Amino acid sequence: MQHNPEQARYDRPSIVFHWLTAALVLLLWLMAQSEALLPREWRHGMWSFHITAGTVLVLVYCARLLWLMSSATRPVSINAGVLRLAERITHGLLYALLATTLVLGIVNVAARGWDLFGIVQIPGFAPEDRSLRRSINGWHELAANGLLILAAAHAVAALYHQFVRRDGLLRRMWFAPQENS
Ligand code: HEM
Repeated sequence: MQHNPEQARYDRPSIVFHWLTAALVLLLWLMAQSEALLPREWRHGMWSFHITAGTVLVLVYCARLLWLMSSATRPVSINAGVLRLAERITHGLLYALLATTLVLGIVNVAARGWDLFGIVQIPGFAPEDRSLRRSINGWHELAANGLLILAAAHAVAALYHQFVRRDGLLRRMWFAPQENS
């Protein structure tokens, strides 16, 4: 990934990956929270959707990392000093916590096994071990809640830049308007 002082925004694929990731993380978390509100007979289908959307997010995450390591370009940071350090730590933690949540999600499914919409049978390596399954599920949930809290703090910081400091930060993570010829 290259910093480019000439550049006002993140490159287009990075922007698409960012907002796709944000939407999928929020959707997955809301699905998990909705379990208690749903009738029992809908719950298996909801978790099948959760596993499918989680798999899409794993693919988006891998593609984003490949893009980041190969061709991504970005503007130089808007912050300096301590704020720049805080920004770097937050962004690094967001990537790390997201990876942790996704890996724990994969292990969660691999442990219990799953019948995905009655179409695909995913075999489990410990379907009878309830305490192991409960423990993996607990860690997955903890990582997901931590990710949501960190993402919320990150969003509040972005909105603070945009509306209090009025430095146009959000524009850096949004598409350039079409030029009229
Ligand atoms: C689950 C939700 C989210 C996740 C996981 C997430 C993650 C990230 C990450 C990892 C970066 C750094 C990208 C890089 O430099 O490689 C970033 C940048 C950014 N995010 Fe988010 N984000 C989320 C939601 C949001 C929301 C809701 C907003 C706005 C309200 C937002 C605004 C921004 C902006 C403006 C930047 C660029 C900051 C800069 O110029 O350095 N993000 N985000």
